Amino acid sequence: MQLSVNGVPRSATIEPRASLLDTLRDRLDLTGTKKGCNQGACGACTVWVDRRPVLACLTLAIACEGHEVTTIEGLADGDRLHPMQQAFIDRDAFQCGYCTPGQIMSAVAYLAHGHGTAEDEIRDWMSGNLCRCAAYPHIRAAIRQAHDQQAAGGGGGATH
Ligand code: FES
Ligand code: FES
Repeated sequence: MQLSVNGVPRSATIEPRASLLDTLRDRLDLTGTKKGCNQGACGACTVWVDRRPVLACLTLAIACEGHEVTTIEGLADGDRLHPMQQAFIDRDAFQCGYCTPGQIMSAVAYLAHGHGTAEDEIRDWMSGNLCRCAAYPHIRAAIRQAHDQQAAGGGGGATH
């Protein structure tokens, strides 16, 4: 199988039933994407396929051939964190951090889709990303920070 991940062509020999999540983590050594429930309920495995957020645990890797897969490892620009990553740090938006990669992938997609800072709108979009540490208020604050930075021309919603 050939995959394009974070702009890099990758290949792996996998079973046809292999999920994108297991392929990323176990075959391609991209362990930033986390396995929580492995059944579509927690959002920890959120990545993008063609810039749209998907649950990697419910996506077949072979279905992603010919598409661009983006993981949390693909957000930073060299040593420069993506503005949403920086906002999560600035706003203390995680405790254990296990849900964080998925939260950030969903949050960047939220801004890329042109959404604003309304509390209900953020809650709605982010409702598929669970946080057992209940960092939700801080996560929403981080999204608002990245939004405001983007509005000021700082690129908070950029998806590279
Ligand atoms: Fe995919 Fe929980 S691991 S939704
Ligand atoms: Fe621990 Fe979200 S920071 S699960």
